[in-house]
Amino acid sequence: MEKTMEKTGSEKIYLFDSTLRDGEQTPGARLNHDEKLEVARQLARLGVDVIEAGFPISSPGELKAVQSIAREVKGPVICGLARTVQEDIDAAWEAIKDAERSRLHVFLAASDIHMEHKLKKSPEALMEQAVAAVRYAKRFTDDIEYSPEDATRAREEYLYRLLEAVIKAGATTLNIPDTVGYAVPEEFGALIRRLRENVKGIDKVVISVHCHNDLGLAVANSLEAVKNGARQIECNINGIGERAGNAALEEIAVALRIRGNHFPYHTDINFPEIYRTSRLVSKLTGISVPVNKAVVGSNAFAHSSGIHQDGVLKKKETYEIIDAALVGGQAAKMCLTARSGRHAVLDALKKIGFSLDDSQLKTIYKHFVELADKKKEVYPEDLEALVLDHLTTSEPRYKLDFLQTISGTMSVPAAIVRLKKEDGTLIEEVATGSGPIDAAYNAVNKITGLFISLNKYKIDAVTQGRDALGEVKVEMSYQDRTITGRGVSTDIIEASVKAYLNGLNKLVRINGS
Ligand code: KIV
Ligand code: ZN
Repeated sequence: MEKTMEKTGSEKIYLFDSTLRDGEQTPGARLNHDEKLEVARQLARLGVDVIEAGFPISSPGELKAVQSIAREVKGPVICGLARTVQEDIDAAWEAIKDAERSRLHVFLAASDIHMEHKLKKSPEALMEQAVAAVRYAKRFTDDIEYSPEDATRAREEYLYRLLEAVIKAGATTLNIPDTVGYAVPEEFGALIRRLRENVKGIDKVVISVHCHNDLGLAVANSLEAVKNGARQIECNINGIGERAGNAALEEIAVALRIRGNHFPYHTDINFPEIYRTSRLVSKLTGISVPVNKAVVGSNAFAHSSGIHQDGVLKKKETYEIIDAALVGGQAAKMCLTARSGRHAVLDALKKIGFSLDDSQLKTIYKHFVELADKKKEVYPEDLEALVLDHLTTSEPRYKLDFLQTISGTMSVPAAIVRLKKEDGTLIEEVATGSGPIDAAYNAVNKITGLFISLNKYKIDAVTQGRDALGEVKVEMSYQDRTITGRGVSTDIIEASVKAYLNGLNKLVRINGS
C-alpha cells in the first residue's frame, strides 16, 4: 500500500475495518462462515481499504471463513491476525494467501503490565520475539503490520526501540493500539507526534491507530492521531468490539468529510453504503444500533423539539449538519410529540394529504396537544383520525346498497353497483373492468363522478378457514390528497368495494365535495 495518495488535493486516510475480527470479539456477536462472507462483501462495497477478516489460528472454522473471504472478496487488502509465533503466522498466511492483496498483522504486548503479568517474560526477550516474528512473516508477503499491544501504557523509550527494530525487520505499517481505551485525545496525538520524531525509519512506513472506546474517546483519539501523522485508522462498523467497542468507522468517515475544513484529508468510503452496512452488521451480529448512535442511530436524523422542528422545516441546516442521504439513510423524521409546534403538525398533515386553513389548524392543533399529552408519539394515522373526527361530519356520504359482479374465463368482467346517498337517494351504475374489483370501482366512480386513482391494494385473511373474513386496505388519491380505506367481509369483492367507499367517504367529507 502506498503511504499516501492524492485526491482533490488532500491526503488519503486509509480505513482498516476490523468488524470481522475485533468487532466479532463483542460478546454474543459470533458470525458463521456465510455471514462473515456477506459482511466482507458489503465492506468491499463500502470501500474500506483493508478488511481484517479474522484470527485464523483461533479455530478451523475461522481459518476457513477468512480463506473464503480472501478468495472471493475483491478490492480491499485482506488481512489476517497472528500472535508472534510461527504457528499463528502459518495459519494466517494459509487463510489469506489467495487474496488479490494480503496482509499479515502480527501483535505482541508492549506495556510492562502486560509483559510482566500476562506474558511473564522480559521486555528484551519479547522484543526479540517480535522481530523474529516479523522476519518470519516477511517470507510470505511484503505487507506486514505490527501492533505493540497496550502501546498507550507502554514505556515510551521501550516503544521507540521496539518500533525501530520491527521496521528494520520489515514491518510496513505500525499500528499503535490504545488497547484498553485509556488515552485522551491531546495525549494520544502527542504520542503519535513523538513517535514520528523519535523512531528511526518511521517516515518509510504507515502509522496506524487502533482505539478502544472505554472512555468514549475512540473516535476523538483516532482523529487527533490523524492530525499528528497517522494515516490509517482501524475501526469497526457501529463501533462494536471488545468491551465498550472500537472507534466507529461511520463516525470517522463522516467526521472527516463533514469537517473537511478542519481535517484536510479524504477517505475512499462510498458514503451511501454506510447505512446499509450498519444495518447488515446489526442484523447478523444481533447487536442493535443504539437509537441515539451518531450517523446510523434511528434518531440521528429525527427532530422532536418544537423549536428544532420549526427550524428544520424552514431550513434543514438549522439543526442538521449531516444530510441523511449522504449515508444512505432516511430523510429527516419529525416525531410529533407534545413538544411539536403548529408548523410541524401542519407539515405532517400536508404529507398525508390535508391542507388546512388557519381556523381548521387551530382546531386540530388543540386536539393534537390533548392527544400528544396522553400518547408519547402521534403518528400520521392519529392525525388523519383527528381531522376526520373534528373537521367532518361522521355520516358516510355513500353506502353500499347492492353489488353484483360477473367474471369468468369467457366473459368480460362487469359490475352492477347501487349506492345509497345520505338523503336516501339510490343510484345504480354498471361498468366493466380488467377484473370484477376494477369493474366495481369503475361503477362507483361513475356514480360519484369522482375519478379517484387507486395507489395500493392489499388483502389479508383476518380469520382462518375457507369462510375467513377478508380485510382489504386501499390507498387512494384524489387531486393532491391521499387517503386510506378499509373494508371487511367474507366476500372479498364486497370487502374491496367497502374499503374503496370507506376511503372515498373520507375524501368527500374532507373536500366538502
Ligand atoms: O486492541 C488491541 O490491542 C488489538 C490488537 C490486536 C491490535 O486488537
Ligand atoms: Zn483491539
